[in-house]
Formats: sequence, structure tokens, C-alpha cells
Amino acid sequence: MGNRLEGKVALITGAARGSGEATARLFVNEGAKVVMTDVLDDLGKAASEELGEAAIYAHLDVTQAEDWDNAVNVATKAFGRFDILVNNAGFARYVPVDKITEEEFMTHLYVNTLGPFLGIRAVIDPMRRSGGGGSIVNIGSTNGLRGSAGGAGYCASKHGLTGLSRSAAVELGPLGIRVNLVAPGGVATQMATEAQAAWYGTGILEPGPGDWSLPLKRMGEPADVATMVLFLASDESSYCSGAEFVVDGGMSADHPTKPAEAWVEHLSALQQQSVRH
Ligand SMILES: NC(=O)c1ccc[n+]([C@@H]2O[C@H](COP(=O)([O-])OP(=O)(O)OC[C@H]3O[C@@H](n4cnc5c(N)ncnc54)[C@H](O)[C@@H]3O)[C@@H](O)[C@H]2O)c1
Repeated sequence: MGNRLEGKVALITGAARGSGEATARLFVNEGAKVVMTDVLDDLGKAASEELGEAAIYAHLDVTQAEDWDNAVNVATKAFGRFDILVNNAGFARYVPVDKITEEEFMTHLYVNTLGPFLGIRAVIDPMRRSGGGGSIVNIGSTNGLRGSAGGAGYCASKHGLTGLSRSAAVELGPLGIRVNLVAPGGVATQMATEAQAAWYGTGILEPGPGDWSLPLKRMGEPADVATMVLFLASDESSYCSGAEFVVDGGMSADHPTKPAEAWVEHLSALQQQSVRH
């Protein structure tokens, strides 16, 4: 148990599983009171019960303004103040640009861009009334900083979120509210597994052997994202606002080429050599 968020109250969206759940767990371990929200109510309730009295669950579909009002009220009534919003809920379907339907495209924008906007709008007053500034952490994506095959809807929505984040940081900075964006990539969650399966199915990208493409040679864990979110939520990052923080195992530093078989063979030979020495 630490105290990096002692006395603070947080609301996290999409907290029933994956990185949102890991973030809620870490926040509680660091002294925060947390409202965990999602549309997966049974899973979300069970996850919050595991964390004891410091966590409660509220239903929140991020695309619905009235759900936002309700969940923010739940937080202030239960815990008396409001300090941190983590816009973590997300939707991803990898479909080629000539095949994606208008509905699929727009669902990305509703969940990944409109949702965080509604959230930011809903928490400004409660943060101001609490008098301690505030920290908003938006979970974007490396696909909000660059394009990706099959990612027309997802990339458009996450680029929109990057812009929303920067703009909100400029407007809310004078109120003492900081806004930052975490850009994960290659994190082993249900979303990543499902998205990759669909992506590979298109023939645009074939799976490489294991995690060959990531410089750190492993997929990320939800806890890898949570530790960055903790830093941005806490006062340790008090001079950070309007910025993007990449958590992707080095993926976006690399030139985005398809795996060439010779290169994959070269890498596995190199790995075996380094094991021998
Ligand atoms: N896993 C990765 O590699 C990766 C990479 C980049 C960005 N991200 C982002 O990280 C965030 C967390 O995703 P994850 O990887 O933990 O996947 P996940 O699928 O485990 O979690 C996403 C959560 O969002 C919830 N959600 C979806 N639509 C919602 C809605 N309308 N209202 C409320 N909740 C809703 C889901 O129920 C789920 O609990 C997302 O914003 C995602 O885009 C993930």
C-alpha cells in the first residue's frame, strides 16, 4: 500500500476489465477512493467488490450524457469530492477502409471521442468545487498518433481524442485542471486479442512469430498502462499538461514495415546466440 493518491477521488470508465480494472486496483492501493464504471455491470460490480470499501461501481455508458451526470453524482455523494477522471473506455474494430460501415465508423467516434468529451464536460464543475485542481487522463492510443492498416474508424477516433486532450488542456490549465493523454500500444487485453484476430483475418497483416515486432519483445500488461496513469493522476506530474505519454514497448519508435522473413530469421538467430553467450 502506498499513498500517492491519498485523499483523492477518481472515476474510471471501462473499469470492468483490462487496463481500466488494473488502474482502479492500483489507485485503491495508493489511497484513492474510486468509482469504477462500465457497461459490463456484472463484471464491474464483481471487480469493485474485490477492492473493498474504497471502490464502488456505477453503470456508465460513456456515449450517454445523463449516465455521466449520474456517475459523477454517485462519486461526489459517496466520497465528498472529485479529483481525477480517467477516460479509459474504448471500442476497436479493425476493418479495411473500403469495407467499414458508417455505423461501425461512427461507433468509434461515439465511444472513443464523444465519450471522453462528455466526461470532461461533466467533471469540470465538481473538480472546481473540490478546490484541489484536478487531473484528467485520456487513454488514447499509438493509433491516435499515427495511422494503421484496418484502423480507419479507430485511428480517426483516437486522433480526435488526442486533439480534444490538447485543446482541453489549454482551456482548463488556468483552472488548475491538467489534461494528459496516455497512448498505449500492444497491451494484452481482450480488446487487443479481438482486434488483432479481425485484423489478421483481412489479409492486410499476417501474424508474425510471437512479439517479433516490439523492441521490448513482449506484449504490455494492463499494469504497464496503469503505472503511467497513476503518475499523471498524482501530484508528481504537477507540471505536465497537454502532453502524450506513449506506453508501447518501443513499437512506435520503429519503422512500420511488414515482417520480412529474412529479418525474422535473423532476429531469432540473434536471440538464440545471446542466450548461448
Ligand atoms: N490493448 C491495447 O493494446 C490498447 C492499445 C491502445 C489503446 N488502448 C486503449 O486502452 C483502453 C482500455 O482498453 P483495454 O485494452 O483495457 O480493452 P478492454 O476491451 O479490456 O477494455 C475496454 C473497456 O471499455 C468498455 N466499454 C466499451 N464501450 C463502452 C461504453 N460505450 N461505455 C462504457 N464502457 C465501454 C468495455 O466494456 C471494456 O470494459 C481503450 O481506450 C483502448 O482503446 C488499448
